[in-house]
Amino acid sequence: MDFFSRVFRSSKRSKSSSSSQEPKTPNEVTNDIIDFDTPRPDVGDVKCVTVLIVGAGSRGMCYTYYAVNFPKRMKIVGVADPRSCTRETLKMMHHIDEDKFFDDWREAAELEKFAEAVIIATPDRLHKEPAIAFAKKGYHILLEKPMAVTPEDCCEIVNACKENGVILAVGHVMRYHPVSRKTRELLDSGVIGDIVHIQHMEPVGYWHFAHSYVRGNWRNEEESTFSLLAKSCHDIDLICYWMGNRRCVKVSSFGTVSHFTKENKPEGASSRCLDCTVEEMCPYSAQKIYLKKAQQKSFGWPVSVVCSDGVQDIESLTHALKTGPYGRCVYECDNDVVSNQVVNMEFEGGQTAAFTMMAFTTDLGARKTTIYGTKGELRCAGGSPIEVFDFVNNKKTLYPAKIVGFMPMHLSAHGGADYYLINSFISAVADNDPSLILSGPDDTLRSHLLVFQAEKSRRENCVVHIDKDGQ
Ligand SMILES: NC(=O)c1ccc[n+]([C@@H]2O[C@H](COP(=O)([O-])OP(=O)(O)OC[C@H]3O[C@@H](n4cnc5c(N)ncnc54)[C@H](O)[C@@H]3O)[C@@H](O)[C@H]2O)c1
Repeated sequence: MDFFSRVFRSSKRSKSSSSSQEPKTPNEVTNDIIDFDTPRPDVGDVKCVTVLIVGAGSRGMCYTYYAVNFPKRMKIVGVADPRSCTRETLKMMHHIDEDKFFDDWREAAELEKFAEAVIIATPDRLHKEPAIAFAKKGYHILLEKPMAVTPEDCCEIVNACKENGVILAVGHVMRYHPVSRKTRELLDSGVIGDIVHIQHMEPVGYWHFAHSYVRGNWRNEEESTFSLLAKSCHDIDLICYWMGNRRCVKVSSFGTVSHFTKENKPEGASSRCLDCTVEEMCPYSAQKIYLKKAQQKSFGWPVSVVCSDGVQDIESLTHALKTGPYGRCVYECDNDVVSNQVVNMEFEGGQTAAFTMMAFTTDLGARKTTIYGTKGELRCAGGSPIEVFDFVNNKKTLYPAKIVGFMPMHLSAHGGADYYLINSFISAVADNDPSLILSGPDDTLRSHLLVFQAEKSRRENCVVHIDKDGQ
């Protein structure tokens, strides 16, 4: 069970069982992961931030639920997206003026600035131009990760934001996850002494990988970018976050496109799952991943993104699987991004880190981390509680990472980190206080540059030495 499911299960319990800040013994801990103390962000005399959405797909739409749940805090005043169906949905949800709907971000950027902030959630290769254009117009920016698909473009975005004095937050949601922040707090407090090594694993999940990285939007480098940047920039960023101010000085990486190639196509398989006679034996069958879920009335992600016009019924889904990208045989796609990758890092001071990304697992999204220190060991597997083993007294202590009790369902993805990210961004803009942002320009650029260096190592089959500028 992941962190968030446990939170909802335990939220039914009473507040009285959750007041202590002290670490709990193993049997007590699950009662204590709801944060009842933090007030809702819309309590009292709060400022409302006006926001333009650029790219109203899965991510752009998700952030707008902050305005639905906390209307005193955020108002959506414009939308740019070529898809009329998403524009219509947002129109109904947010009562946006007719003249603030745009087919393309450029139309919005040509106007006088009409919102305090912009959320840019366009496809990976469409981040740089709008980010720079809106920075020049003076909009504070929440930019989805990856910032951009080349190191040069990432640097340009950061420079544009700094030159124009606008706040930049990047969609590195995992930094805002209560477990990540609690881990950092524990490391800073010295509970495991000095960090020696971080081992971190990102299990993508077999059907998730097939959906997004074999059939879907992130399957092909020319169309989006390489796996480590598209998927695991979160993880390299987390390792950097936990390592604190230490700089990575050396990196090496290996990775391959395993299994999802033409040579592995089973005998008798068709090009499309809906008319495939061996589909029943295939774990990646589109019938299993989408159609069966929809037949059980489960139209949430990933089923929700299969029909490009947003329609959600069996007939439209069947048509989309017969004709669209998500019904293709996984052994006959134009995918070229790696399905398994390892990255080894050495930091200034000698600390090391090892990262693994794996498609072939059932542990979808349940990241696992062990941090080895001179006085103890810290572990987290799929969420709260964090386990700390103390070498001095040979004792294990569990530390819960709390989540707010009023967590809106639509912002609960990534263990609730979506809520914490958008709340930090809106608070930073409202109070003009960039220190509220954990994924600001400098930290994000540093970890993105490391991702580019790791990929260079994989491609060029060499150890890459990194200088002070991340080059
Ligand atoms: N932070 C995270 O954990 C996380 C998770 C998933 C995706 N992402 C990133 O978020 C971004 C968006 O991903 P998504 O899943 O929402 O994709 P999506 O395809 O659902 O949404 C992208 C939207 O951008 C729109 N768009 C395309 N061209 C446009 C233009 N010229 N002007 C305005 N809008 C335009 C598309 O019509 C679409 O609605 C990507 O960069 C992706 O990598 C981040």
